[in-house]
Amino acid sequence: MENSQSQTPSPALNRIAVIEGDITRQRVDAIVNAANSSLLGGGGVDGAIHRAAGPQLLEECRQLKGCRTGEAKITQGYKLPAKWVIHTVGPVWQGGFRNEDELLAQCYRNSLALAELHGIQTIAFPAISTGAFMFPIQRATAIAVTEVKQFLEKNTSLEKVIFVCFSSELLNCYLQAVREIIGANSGE
Ligand code: APR
Repeated sequence: MENSQSQTPSPALNRIAVIEGDITRQRVDAIVNAANSSLLGGGGVDGAIHRAAGPQLLEECRQLKGCRTGEAKITQGYKLPAKWVIHTVGPVWQGGFRNEDELLAQCYRNSLALAELHGIQTIAFPAISTGAFMFPIQRATAIAVTEVKQFLEKNTSLEKVIFVCFSSELLNCYLQAVREIIGANSGE
């Protein structure tokens, strides 16, 4: 009989989900944007988020005066279903000898830390840096799952972290990474 008094957080596995979909449609407290250092919008998921949020997002982003690679900054979500957008800037893949792994890990760590600071309980991530920034997908998904697992093992306030995959190939990569790193399937 589990002691109902103990508030031990459910294991990381129960708080991670991997889905295929469009991050701009996720009804979560915060979605993470794979931005560039200007924070003034772009293509890919950055463009999709700005289109869905509307022009007020760009107005608020202008006040932030950019963002360094690996760092994260937060804005409101405006017309998005999500209340917040956490903008982070992933590294451009340059062959793996320019600290890309650590910089990508920092994107996840800093985004999660910012979420905790704002009392965010549900958060959705795209596959940061795996599009225009050319980071190898399997390497990037392993970093993403490892960083989220380590954060959830220490943090009780986050209830759900969702990896939103824009393709079935990416979905399978994430499911494989979750199986290998956390130890089981964690579908929707
Ligand atoms: N929902 C979820 N994932 C998406 C969506 C979406 N609507 N649109 C794109 N993606 C996925 C891509 O398929 C890829 O797997 O997001 C991942 C990241 O790809 P990019 O958006 O290209 O981001 P990134 O590789 O980090 O490059 C960032 O691209 O868009 C510009 O302004 C951005 O300069 C920055 C650079």
